[in-house]
Amino acid sequence: MKIIAIQSSPKRKNSNTLKLVEAALEGAREAGAETELIDITRLKINFCKGCVTCYRDGTCHQKDDYNALKKKILEADGIILSSPNYIDNITAQLKVFFDRSANFIHEQLLDGKYGLSITTSGSGNNDFVLGIMNHFINATGGLAVGSVGCGMGQGPAAFESGIKKSRESGKELARAIKEKRAYPDQAAAHRDWKEHFAMTLRRNKDNWKHNYECWVEKGWIKA
Ligand SMILES: Cc1cc2nc3c(=O)[nH]c(=O)nc-3n(C[C@H](O)[C@H](O)[C@H](O)COP(=O)(O)O)c2cc1C
Repeated sequence: MKIIAIQSSPKRKNSNTLKLVEAALEGAREAGAETELIDITRLKINFCKGCVTCYRDGTCHQKDDYNALKKKILEADGIILSSPNYIDNITAQLKVFFDRSANFIHEQLLDGKYGLSITTSGSGNNDFVLGIMNHFINATGGLAVGSVGCGMGQGPAAFESGIKKSRESGKELARAIKEKRAYPDQAAAHRDWKEHFAMTLRRNKDNWKHNYECWVEKGWIKA
């Protein structure tokens, strides 16, 4: 079982959020997972040009580190997304990765995978940022196991409990993967979305060839 974590704070090794992520990975390892931490601030990931070639070809033709990162994510069973709160949002680095991943939505590339979201903020306004990351997990077909947020302004005791919660959540992520845990509400939302998107896909099947073939292969649409 492999769990991959994405860290997106430009503060890198001095990042508060990274400390929570490391605790989550430690917990995941205690529960038997193999883990890998990826610092996307060190990768070259260009912004999405909106050409939507990925819908047609199933890949992005930009020459940078995106496709190698995508491959690692596809090989993993679980993903930890993390970002500090930047202007009540995720960092630009994580957003660029999300924008490049529109095909993750079309082809539901996190289908069968599990995810966890982690943030820190100054104020304790964590929910919106966590919501953005959990939305990515759900919108791409994955199951969100939980989230951890910590307001740094609330002092060292709050951070300590954030570390504890992260370790537990990392364990929980690994357990959910191991037991193939069901999340009926999230699965129902996936079914509703697929039903709706199938109509869009039929209309665009000549342009979005790879998307269409992928859905036929998965049995989500009849050729
Ligand atoms: C550019 C920038 C924008 C920020 N915006 C917010 C914000 O809108 N709300 C908030 O509560 N904290 C905000 N903060 C504080 C960070 O979220 C907080 O310090 C966080 O712990 C930093 O995480 P990091 O150490 O992992 O980078 C901001 C910090 C920076 C540098």
